[in-house]
Amino acid sequence: MARARKTGNESLRSDFLASIATSYSTPEIAIVSGKGAYLKDADGKTYLDFLSGIATNALGAAHPKIIAAVREQIGKVSHISNLYAHPENIRLASRLREMVGDSESRVFFCNSGAEANEAAIKLSRLTGRKEIIAMRGAFHGRTLGALSITGQQSKRTPFLPLMSGIRFVDFDDLKGLRRAVSRRTAMVIVEPIQGENGVVVPEPGFLQGVAEISRSCGALFAVDAVQTGMGRTGSWFGYEDEGVRPEIITLAKALGGGLPMGAMIATSTAPQFSPGQHGSTFGGNPIVAAAANVVIDVIEKDQLMERAIALHEMLKEAVIELPMIADVRGGGLLIGIVLSEPRAKELAAKLQENGILVNAATDSVIRLAPPLIVSKKEITRFVEVFSRIVQALFKNRSGVRP
Ligand SMILES: Cc1ncc(COP(=O)(O)O)c(C=O)c1O
Repeated sequence: MARARKTGNESLRSDFLASIATSYSTPEIAIVSGKGAYLKDADGKTYLDFLSGIATNALGAAHPKIIAAVREQIGKVSHISNLYAHPENIRLASRLREMVGDSESRVFFCNSGAEANEAAIKLSRLTGRKEIIAMRGAFHGRTLGALSITGQQSKRTPFLPLMSGIRFVDFDDLKGLRRAVSRRTAMVIVEPIQGENGVVVPEPGFLQGVAEISRSCGALFAVDAVQTGMGRTGSWFGYEDEGVRPEIITLAKALGGGLPMGAMIATSTAPQFSPGQHGSTFGGNPIVAAAANVVIDVIEKDQLMERAIALHEMLKEAVIELPMIADVRGGGLLIGIVLSEPRAKELAAKLQENGILVNAATDSVIRLAPPLIVSKKEITRFVEVFSRIVQALFKNRSGVRP
């Protein structure tokens, strides 16, 4: 009997297995195109994208203004290195400095979140101090330096020994932080919300406390806004509500609107690199910088940060009372739906089957990070499908009702 012809997804899955690094588990589907908050797989099935490349495609897929800017820039020059200046990344850096509110701050461009944090780690060494304090549960990237300040044992253990001089304290534990800092501490680094750890939100006042404690011992206060930044949580960097002023801010993900870009902003109270102390061939690439300028234009013009806050409330209200939902947390359009049972993977798979892409950040937390351009109608559609599936899973569950 002739074998059934493999579908697009199936054949790409087996090619993936044969060729892509085994550091990733094999995906069920291949995504080949998209528009706005919708993506299409290799078999032509459409999905509502509530993950946006893990909090990255702030303007969704194939945004016409990003397409136009990239086309225009690639038609002029794609890459120039950092031996020459370029108007797009200079403009982008000026806008980021304005957002930070410090005209003496300087922006180092790179290509990813891990690289932005590597730059922060190196910068902290210029204080003459060697120790860094990071948070348990934190995620700062997979390169050796960034992994050294990542507070997740399972990711670290196979690669030990990592950098020395790193101390971890519990997230949201100011007393522990106060005990850990000393005159040897170069930098304290913290995420405003721990995204990879399951969208964990600290108590109000935590960032303020971290800022105060860091300053009390002369350490740099660094905020990793890679996942929370660029409007996702309703402000540019995710820390503004607390009224703090970090010395270092790292960005990536949404900054390039789906093109690879990272940034490390060192404010006027941080040290600055001297020429030759740090660099990146592609950092500040003109095409990516042009896309990033569009991301900022659209977020400002369409008031996407204000919308993110309103849509958070709309979604939370609609799902919080459903069975199996223990909590809905996060900020703006970075949302963690906490389940009362460790069934996030099963629920994410069911949602995908039903045309909605989300991610199980942990066994019991579904992470939502839709593009910031998501509409109310699309939120309503998510809520309808999500409610139906949660109710069905709850009905069919084995075990005792809570
Ligand atoms: C807070 C945070 N920092 C750093 C990173 C690493 O970014 P990248 O994967 O671009 O290296 C991530 C990625 O998820 C992140 O969420």
